[in-house]
Amino acid sequence: MLKKIINGNIISLEIRNKIKIKVKQKIREGHRPPGLAVILIGNNTSSKIYIENKTKACQQIGILSKNWFLPENTSETELLNLIKQLNTDTSIDGILVQLPFPKSINPQNIFSSIHPKKDVDGFHPYNIGCLFQKTPKLRPCTPKGIMLLLQYFNIHMHGMHAVILGASNIVGRPMCMELLLAGCTTTVTHRFTKNISHHINQADILVVAIGQSNFVKGEWLKKGVIVIDAGINQLQDGTITGDVDFNSALEKCSLITPVPGGVGPMTITALLLNTIESYESNVI
Ligand code: GUN
Repeated sequence: MLKKIINGNIISLEIRNKIKIKVKQKIREGHRPPGLAVILIGNNTSSKIYIENKTKACQQIGILSKNWFLPENTSETELLNLIKQLNTDTSIDGILVQLPFPKSINPQNIFSSIHPKKDVDGFHPYNIGCLFQKTPKLRPCTPKGIMLLLQYFNIHMHGMHAVILGASNIVGRPMCMELLLAGCTTTVTHRFTKNISHHINQADILVVAIGQSNFVKGEWLKKGVIVIDAGINQLQDGTITGDVDFNSALEKCSLITPVPGGVGPMTITALLLNTIESYESNVI
């Protein structure tokens, strides 16, 4: 069987180059550059790395990226006030508040306060509702990035059985909606699911986002499955691993994303696309 390791970096680069040309064109026409506001509360090391990567990606394609680093003890009211200000800032097209938040801040209050047209994370109830009702607007970035990968390989998803491991608001749930929209039959498993390997074995497409290093074993997989690993786990020695045991899964699959270099760069690419979508609806 032909096996392909999906190179998310190369696919991202292709898409980002197209966005870069679009941005250059807009600026040539006399428009302001697109603007993305990123807010981090506290000192989470992984979050800082994500933000660095996002900032670099923005700079490479001509999006003006403005970062706010707020202390761990920032109150919900202070954060809401900053978002209120950014909602009406005409140089800002997208607002992203990096998860995880300190316990004192309620994510739902924060995501609901971002203007739906600047909600480049796609987490506002309006945008989630649109995706749910088959009229997507701004879509959550990791599922969107994964759909871009599947579309890149011209996967005809109608009637495929997609199995999603993990029911988070960030990946699992919106991923289920994306795959339903694409015509898949979907199963979402979670921490209470019994006999998980049985479900995994039914998958034509398997999307894993559970945050458990090397959890999925190749022996559980159906031959020819497409494996999408959205996990990023850091081991004690600093090594980054996914949620799938890559080497054993490679034996069974037709396509697989590595970690790092698979879904990660596509999530950022989806964020850039969302920012441009927002920008185009603002400057035209
Ligand atoms: N933390 C990890 N992934 C994400 C994401 O997609 N959006 C936000 N806001 N925070 C995250």
